[in-house]
Amino acid sequence: MTETENIEASARAGHSAGASPTSEQPLPEYDNQLSGFHRAFERELQAIVNELPLTAEMRVLDLACGDGFYTSRIAERLGSGGFITGADISQAYLSEASAQVSRHHGRARINFVGATVDRLPFPDDTFDLVWCAQSLYSLPDPVVAIGQMARVVRPGGLVAVLENDTLHQVLLPWPVSLELPLRAAELRLFLEASQNSSKYYVGRRLPAILAAAGLEPLRMTTHAFDRQAPLGEAEQKLLQSYLEEVTERVAPYLNAALLHELGQLVDPGSPQHLLGLPYLTMTWLNVLAFGRKRSV
Ligand SMILES: C[S@@+](CC[C@H](N)C(=O)[O-])C[C@H]1O[C@@H](n2cnc3c(N)ncnc32)[C@H](O)[C@@H]1O
Repeated sequence: MTETENIEASARAGHSAGASPTSEQPLPEYDNQLSGFHRAFERELQAIVNELPLTAEMRVLDLACGDGFYTSRIAERLGSGGFITGADISQAYLSEASAQVSRHHGRARINFVGATVDRLPFPDDTFDLVWCAQSLYSLPDPVVAIGQMARVVRPGGLVAVLENDTLHQVLLPWPVSLELPLRAAELRLFLEASQNSSKYYVGRRLPAILAAAGLEPLRMTTHAFDRQAPLGEAEQKLLQSYLEEVTERVAPYLNAALLHELGQLVDPGSPQHLLGLPYLTMTWLNVLAFGRKRSV
């Protein structure tokens, strides 16, 4: 058996031994916004993938791979001796990911595995690089999740995490009177939603989290994706869906006057509609951090 076949076989064994990917569930509610994000910022996200420290023969894991957006792009940077495994709990996403990679023509081997992050079906030290994008808030505990990534990466190998920080993910020209109450309302919601609420604004703490999981934190960079009116169609869709989603989220925590003010900014029929501003700017922030597994 080749090394790749070994890993695929152990993944299958791990799968049947207890990991429980969801086979019946549809795509999650956030899927629309996530794929809108990919469409609106494809150029910048591709540039981030282009900068990853990959070589042709590497063994890569895309953990919580979702629809395979990054899996296929990383695969294109690998040669015929390299391979990438996409792992995700969602069978619906794994099907999307398989369809997505079939449209790309790289030489690397690609496979997908149903897996939960807390029981990754791979032996220790399997991969040269583990990639995990925009997923720590979906996973139960960021330190446990990165601890698993640390387990399966080889000594000297890298864990690369792309994340955002919900409380300052999107910078918009909000009226100042609204901006801070809106963020305070979001924070209240997060505190109520989870005992581990800080995972929703994990971006600011990535080096500390990598260290807590036993990795040596290396560089962390913030990537600002700037747009200015007139926005393209994908950008408009993404921004409108973000505005509607954030309004729904904070509505129970804002007083009537602030909620009305917010409603005017979000409503396409209102003269105050944010997307109608002649000099609208938007900035989408992402944090990319690397941790290295120490060699023993
Ligand atoms: C926000 S999506 C990000 C997907 C992809 N990395 C991207 O950026 O497009 C979060 C992903 O985490 C997966 N996920 C959630 N809980 C998980 C778990 N316990 N184990 C593995 N994957 C999980 C979801 O199915 C989803 O694909």
